[in-house]
Amino acid sequence: MENSYKKIFEANKKWVEKMNGENPDFFAHLAKEQNPDYLYIGCSDSRVHANEIMGLQPGEVFVHRNIANMVVNNDLNVLSVINYAVEHLNVKFIIVCGHYNCGGIKAAMQPKDLGILNPWLRNVRDVYRLHEKELDNIASPDERYNRLVEINVYEQCLNVIKTAEVQKSYYEKGYPRVAGWVYDLNEGILKDLNIDFEKELNRIRKIYDLTKEK
Ligand code: CO
Repeated sequence: MENSYKKIFEANKKWVEKMNGENPDFFAHLAKEQNPDYLYIGCSDSRVHANEIMGLQPGEVFVHRNIANMVVNNDLNVLSVINYAVEHLNVKFIIVCGHYNCGGIKAAMQPKDLGILNPWLRNVRDVYRLHEKELDNIASPDERYNRLVEINVYEQCLNVIKTAEVQKSYYEKGYPRVAGWVYDLNEGILKDLNIDFEKELNRIRKIYDLTKEK
């Protein structure tokens, strides 16, 4: 245990040498500013690493991760990240990325007391309830689980679109657009759910339009 902990700092030194070898200005350039086009909201799962799966370098994607890639209306953490990404970093895309084999989604599908996780997973359980008909019609438990992963990403994309920052910025500047992806752990493949952003935005505005002042 002690050894593997120390190894991290050895690995860090090697990484610094490697990066400096490839580009002596790498750190000087990064230290000056960040200018990412993407905000990635994903799961905390250690197997799903935003930069790696997107093939992006440090500085190219702003990242927020939590259990089951949730965008919860009263979570100051994710809301602050969205606010900063939209208003200060001017990101062009906000991506909600779920993944199959997600432990958070699986836990939420079991109706039992999970202690402090209850209020968090309640948001996933609410997604299930909203789409109960479709999900209950899927006979295979594995397929139902995978479908909930996808539907949850869709609902979290809607939650992003419900924010005032995203609506106002999109109407004023034409960005950010919101996209939903699912990462397949078995094959390493990213799948675009092809959510129709314009359509969802227009639909959502009926009830959640926050572009007008009081
Ligand atoms: Co997960």
